[in-house]
Amino acid sequence: MKRKSLLALALLISGSLFFAACNSEEKPTEETTGQEAAKDQPETHGTEIKPEDVTLTTPLNQEWVKTGKSTYDLKCQSCHKLTDERLVGPGWAGVTKRREPHWIMNMITNVDMMLETDPEAQKLLEQCLVRMPNQNITKDDARQILEFMRSNDGVK
Ligand code: HEC
Repeated sequence: MKRKSLLALALLISGSLFFAACNSEEKPTEETTGQEAAKDQPETHGTEIKPEDVTLTTPLNQEWVKTGKSTYDLKCQSCHKLTDERLVGPGWAGVTKRREPHWIMNMITNVDMMLETDPEAQKLLEQCLVRMPNQNITKDDARQILEFMRSNDGVK
């Protein structure tokens, strides 16, 4: 009995240390498990975005830039800076010049697929040593984030 509760205590402590170390960034992924996430799965996960699925236009759609920025503030900022400086993941400056639009959209909506199959994504994982979590972003949200990234890269 005593050993058992000691063990439980040890597990509890190591558990909270783990969370303290990773701080709040781990939280959203925890919360997206369960029914709501399951409901969102079909449209947000597993549908690969093809090059012809993304059309870029200028001038930018400023509404999308704005909503893209709010999603960034809420779900991406903890790991990505808007400069070229790495935080947890790579900084976003220049990302729309380095990568194809559909590649970026897949990285946002299908990160698990990308980390399993795409050599460039795998290279990033080797550098960053952290797997970007699946954030349950819809294709439309991802398109708006892409618009915000284009704006961040100086497109008008
Ligand atoms: C917990 C940290 C974390 C969060 C939150 C996060 N990312 Fe990432 N992201 C990463 C890491 C780490 C990588 C590099 C690939 C890897 O290691 O999985 C990455 C890579 C990327 C890349 C490729 C960048 C490049 O230079 O090619 C894009 C695009 C991206 N993330 C978009 C997003 C978007 C959009 C969001 C918010 C909806 C987001 N990320 C949220 C950690 C995160």
